[in-house]
Amino acid sequence: MYRIVRKEALRPIVTLYEIEAPLVAKKAQPGQFIILRVDENGERIPITINDYNPEKGTVTIIVQTVGSTTEKLSHLNEGDCLHDFVGPLGKATETEGKKKVCVVGGGVGCAIAYPVLKKFHDCGAEVHAVVGFKSKDFVILEEDFQKSSDKLIVCTDDGSYGRKGLVTEALKDLIEEGNQYDEVFAIGPMVMMKFVSLTTQPYGIPTTVSMSPIMIDGTGMCGGCRLSVGGEMKFACVDGPDFDGHKVDWNLAVKRNQMYAEFEKHKHEETCNLFKKEVQ
Ligand code: FES
Repeated sequence: MYRIVRKEALRPIVTLYEIEAPLVAKKAQPGQFIILRVDENGERIPITINDYNPEKGTVTIIVQTVGSTTEKLSHLNEGDCLHDFVGPLGKATETEGKKKVCVVGGGVGCAIAYPVLKKFHDCGAEVHAVVGFKSKDFVILEEDFQKSSDKLIVCTDDGSYGRKGLVTEALKDLIEEGNQYDEVFAIGPMVMMKFVSLTTQPYGIPTTVSMSPIMIDGTGMCGGCRLSVGGEMKFACVDGPDFDGHKVDWNLAVKRNQMYAEFEKHKHEETCNLFKKEVQ
């Protein structure tokens, strides 16, 4: 059993959980994920690691409540235990040997971007960060980003905080200003990662995207995270989650992601309706 030692609401539906999992904490690296089960009969969901503390033996994850399992998780409190917490899984993000990088995060994807950014920083790279949110109310981890980056641009869609507009516009400006990045790392909604890749392509800047948002069970068996990279079929949970953004077939990936979102929405509605019937 894996005890929740800290639970903190970052935003109304975005929660940070620090979990006691010494073996996972000992081996975790940025970009990797865990699979958790809330209880014995629960479904397995993959969540990318936000932070880890090998000395304390804890792993931090940030979860947005979007479906029945994350809803169930949101009802647990400090001191409660998760039934399973398996990992670390997936390949770690390569962070060594870079002089200057830009990390781009969108929404809850920033929870995944943060450990990558921190590792780039700890490896001695000059780190620029561009993070985007819907509005001021959705901004998370700003202080953490500030501490580990040499330049931080916060964007909001509605201009209620930081710079108004898209992360891709801010990234383009940084490139046009003459910043020569060895790599751009992007994590966030699929469409955002697609346009980050399209933005950097004309400049020939190597671009890594984390496809963890499309993972479903994280086991390599459901096929939900299948994508085409450089003409080859890959699985985000087995071969990734990081891929070369310039080689991903984005049209296919976006289409699959939209289909899955639609399926999840209906599944969630069905679960809610069943639940409502049961309590009536
Ligand atoms: Fe199911 Fe990768 S998440 S195969």
